[in-house]
Parts: sequence; C-alpha cells; structure tokens
Amino acid sequence: MGVIMKTLLSHRSIRKYQNRPIEKEILDEILKAVQAAPNWVNLQHISVIVVQEQQRRKKFAELCGGQKHIAQAPVFLVFCADFYRTWQACKENGQEFDSVVSQIDNLIVGANEVGIALETAVVAAESFGLGTVPIGDIRLHAFEAIRELNLPKYVVPMLGLCVGYPAEEPGQKPRLPKEAVCFEEKYNSDLTGLLKQYDEQYAVYLRERPWNSRVGDWTGMNADFYRPPYCHYPEVPEMMAQQGFLSQR
Ligand SMILES: Cc1cc2nc3c(=O)[nH]c(=O)nc-3n(C[C@H](O)[C@H](O)[C@H](O)COP(=O)(O)O)c2cc1C
Repeated sequence: MGVIMKTLLSHRSIRKYQNRPIEKEILDEILKAVQAAPNWVNLQHISVIVVQEQQRRKKFAELCGGQKHIAQAPVFLVFCADFYRTWQACKENGQEFDSVVSQIDNLIVGANEVGIALETAVVAAESFGLGTVPIGDIRLHAFEAIRELNLPKYVVPMLGLCVGYPAEEPGQKPRLPKEAVCFEEKYNSDLTGLLKQYDEQYAVYLRERPWNSRVGDWTGMNADFYRPPYCHYPEVPEMMAQQGFLSQR
C-alpha cells in the first residue's frame, strides 16, 4: 500500500497533544499543501489564519465551548471562506459585488473549499506524524471569533483545526458499511438493515468508550444530536448576513 493510502486509512482525531512545537518547515509544508489543493476556477476562496500564541489559543479554546485541546495543541488553524480578494478585484474593475456574493451557491463554494483545504492540512499533518482535530465550534461565538481574527466583510470563519504531536492513541472510529454510503449508479434508500448492522457494531464501540456518548447506538446518537429545536450555532445566520453572504433582511 502506498504511503498516502496508509496515512488516509489510519486517520483518527487527536484531542491530547505533547508540549512540543511544530517545526516551522513542517508547518510551511502543510500550508503549501493547502494552497496546492483544487479550488473553484482558481479563484482561491479560502484563507488560513495560523494561531500560535498561547494566550490566543486559550482564548479560542474558551470561544469554542471550552475545548482544552485548542489551548494544548501548539498550532490552531482557522479556515475561512474568503471572497474579500474577489471584492477587491471587483472594486478595482468598477463592478458591484454585494448582490453577487450573497447568492447562496457562494456558500457552497466557500464550504467546499474550506473542506478541501482542511482535509488537505489533515493529511499533510498526519504524513509528518502530527495529529489533528477539526473544530466546527469556531462558529459557536462567531462574532467574537471574527473580531479576534480581524476578519473583514466577505470572510467567514468556517472551521478550526488543532495540529500537534499526539499524546494519546484513541484508535479509529468504525464507519458505516460501505453499501450505506457508496452506491452503484443510483441511490439505494433501503438502508434499514445496514443501519441496524452498524448500530450493533457502534453499540459495542460506545460500550468500550462510555465517556463518548449518552446514547447507545449510532441511530440513537444521530437522532439525539438533531433533536428539535435543533440550533447548533445560533449566531451563524446573522453572522453570515454581516459578512455579506446572506442578503440583509
Ligand atoms: C466539520 C467538522 C467539525 C468538527 N468539530 C469538532 C469539534 O468542534 N470538536 C471536536 O472535538 N471534534 C470535532 N470534529 C471531529 C469529529 O468529531 C470526528 O472527525 C468524528 O467524530 C470522526 O472521528 P475521527 O476523526 O477520529 O475518525 C469535527 C469534524 C468535522 C469534520
């Protein structure tokens, strides 16, 4: 098996880190890999903010719901969907921009690119023996995150990523059966049996890690997570409007 495949198939998120800095050359390589990733029309709609100062990592740990690993990991990357450079290009060309950037497809473009960039950083980091964990909770206190990062309009913080040398070996989480995720030619919506099969496997996994979840299997965990009135990041709609991605109501 090739080295990249081995890296991909050994992925697991790391939430405990050694007190050891990341070499500058390695961090530079990770960022180079991020910039080399595919992107929409080569318009390059992401930015990465590298947060390394300890006090600031502590601040982000608080902002992200008290996630200690953000303070512990030597590097916290914040991936932003970024249309600021495009705004500048349009301004220089005398073009109106607000009605364009607020079209919903641009959210898809930005989210696509952040996802691609983040996973590229994950794989690059893991190839150097580093560990990572993505942080969606950067959107929990989105307005304060924007202020901390000095983000202008047209830039949205979408995901964080802790990076550092692992101080734990948590093992890999079982995934859904392939047939429930990858389909031949057409979607197969008859998933009950496959989900039941996965529930049994997941129940065993959770029993071995009782601190992981309050609910005993995957469908239970899924339903519990999305229990109405679900609203994981209440600031997001208003923040997206402020940043120009949703038209102001
Ligand atoms: C978009 C996204 C946001 C995430 N946000 C968080 C987070 O805020 N905190 C955290 O501890 N893990 C977070 N994770 C990590 C997931 O919980 C983890 O990837 C998932 O449970 C699968 O586990 P694994 O990565 O070990 O295979 C996030 C993952 C993704 C892809």
